[in-house]
Amino acid sequence: MRAFVINEDDGNLSCEVRDVEPGRMDLDDVLVKVDFSGVNFKDAMVATAKSRVRRVASLVGGVDAAGTVVESSHAQFNTGDRVAVHGGNLGVGRDGGFAQYVYSPTRYLSPLPAALSTHDAMVVGTAGFTAMESLLALEDRGLQHGAQVLVTGATGGVGSQAVTYLAARGYRPVASTGSPEESQWLTERGAIRVVGRDEVSDQPGRVLGSELWDGAIDCVGGETLAQILRSLRYGAGVAACGLVASADLNTTVYPFITRNVGLLGIDCVEATNATRTRVWSALSEVAPRVDFAPLVDRLIELEELPAALDDIRNGRTRGRILVNPTPG
Ligand SMILES: NC(=O)c1ccc[n+]([C@@H]2O[C@H](COP(=O)([O-])OP(=O)(O)OC[C@H]3O[C@@H](n4cnc5c(N)ncnc54)[C@H](OP(=O)(O)O)[C@@H]3O)[C@@H](O)[C@H]2O)c1
Repeated sequence: MRAFVINEDDGNLSCEVRDVEPGRMDLDDVLVKVDFSGVNFKDAMVATAKSRVRRVASLVGGVDAAGTVVESSHAQFNTGDRVAVHGGNLGVGRDGGFAQYVYSPTRYLSPLPAALSTHDAMVVGTAGFTAMESLLALEDRGLQHGAQVLVTGATGGVGSQAVTYLAARGYRPVASTGSPEESQWLTERGAIRVVGRDEVSDQPGRVLGSELWDGAIDCVGGETLAQILRSLRYGAGVAACGLVASADLNTTVYPFITRNVGLLGIDCVEATNATRTRVWSALSEVAPRVDFAPLVDRLIELEELPAALDDIRNGRTRGRILVNPTPG
């Protein structure tokens, strides 16, 4: 099969499309024919020399994929079933979705709801799954209908879907972006307002800023997350799901002990089966109200991955880049 292989040898990184056998790690892995894969920030981190994310020297990249089961020894997955594959070591420590076929343990397979085609499931991908997981975490904390929720990194894969799904579920998303030229696009996705990256808080001289947000979904981390914490309303939460700016967090305990705010950790990689079922079901529920087409930055072939990964690294994308490993 054709696959996008990342290889590091003595600090020399190469990325190329070539013919390889599908990488099976366990006899009872399920084989999936990939219709579409997606390009994620994490994929760009994996395809970097001396990557701290990649766990092996050589592998097929791609942390998510959607397609059809072609080989399974498990009763719950049959030939022809449509599935999403994401999580665990996929595309990080074992061969991933930038290929025509991918093997996966059942733990990282999710049956697709009827409402979602494999194309739309990969528009969702890891990014949209994380966006919905974040939204559900805010709802669990008591988010009220009509709440004003800040989304940072709003034009990215996670951010744009957070804006879209918040709007589809009756909330009022405020999109924070470093790409003001995309304001119209973000408004069309459902943002009630678009603000700059440095407009997530006020009163910089004080320990706490004004109570601006009923909730937040943060893809950025670092100083942005610290500023969000000091600007949440009493009792509100921020779903911390990303680190595109920084993995550091310098804050005080004041937001927690005087405003009762919640720092909600979000991880999609090891999400339990119960969480996966809940998130895909919520996605299926909003799907009829969502226009997936504008969330696609572009559809590419395996050969175009190096340029796409560069665009992700440099924040030059809008929504999701999809990969078709078998064009034509
Ligand atoms: N927790 C999980 O399980 C999980 C799952 C998926 C992804 N993630 C993480 O979520 C984050 C977003 O992933 P993604 O796939 O959506 O990435 P993405 O498509 O590359 O989007 C990231 C967005 O962040 C903004 N941005 C980029 N560089 C920035 C910087 N230096 N400072 C501030 N903003 C910056 C840009 O949006 P604007 O131009 O609009 O500001 C960019 O489009 C990543 O850190 C990723 O690792 C976590």
